Amino acid sequence: MSETHHGARHVAIIMDGNGRWAKKRFLPRVAGHKAGVEAVRTIVRAAAEMGLEALTLYAFSSENWKRPEEEVSDLMGLMKRFILSDLDEFAANDVKLKIIGNWRALAPDVVELIEKALSRTAGNSRTTLAVALNYGAQDELVRAAAAAAAAGAITAEAIEAHLDTADLPPLDLLIRTSGEVRLSNFLLWQSAYAELYFTDTLWPDFKPADLQAALDHFARRERRYGGL
Ligand code: IPE
Ligand code: IPE
Ligand code: MG
Repeated sequence: MSETHHGARHVAIIMDGNGRWAKKRFLPRVAGHKAGVEAVRTIVRAAAEMGLEALTLYAFSSENWKRPEEEVSDLMGLMKRFILSDLDEFAANDVKLKIIGNWRALAPDVVELIEKALSRTAGNSRTTLAVALNYGAQDELVRAAAAAAAAGAITAEAIEAHLDTADLPPLDLLIRTSGEVRLSNFLLWQSAYAELYFTDTLWPDFKPADLQAALDHFARRERRYGGL
């Protein structure tokens, strides 16, 4: 895949529809989540090849704890396996891992695994893969506002500087799969001027060509930021 001149630096994706993908095939929901992990692998590679500086993926929201215990534990298990098995792939593709959200509140073995993965990929610089784990934008904003207040003043600049995404380029494009047209508490601050792209494709079916289509759409948008 060749690098294109889409102009986007940072793309985020609400990876939705794993459950419906499985249901359509009369499979258990976990099969949809497994297929979702395969899609993540492919899309991370494609994002690097397409020249994106950052790709932020919504993997587990602070509200997803409301799901049955078995599904939560399946998701955590898949997450751990993904991080472990893909460390070499990150190294090969010069991908730096970042985690946003309240990930330090996860189980100790997950936290330890994440810390190792972060330090092992810290030197990579082509693309940052930011995975949102136990992430909720309202929680992020409360934490950022509290940190800004503690540092002196609650200004837009100070809040922004304390967001989990502070070290990433501004968000250009936010994609949601599976036909739902809502943000579900994802990147509320960062999406203020992002282009929004909704597709009916279910996450496990999302291919590099779909990412390319979203980037082509982005390239045709005129961003105004309130001006003319
Ligand atoms: C997205 O797929 C994955 C997570 C939220 C972890 P869903 O599990 O929400 O799939 P649907 O929405 O039920 O189809
Ligand atoms: C958003 O999807 C969270 C992730 C993709 C991780 P959900 O499936 O949890 O969102 P709702 O419940 O449909 O709003
Ligand atoms: Mg869903």
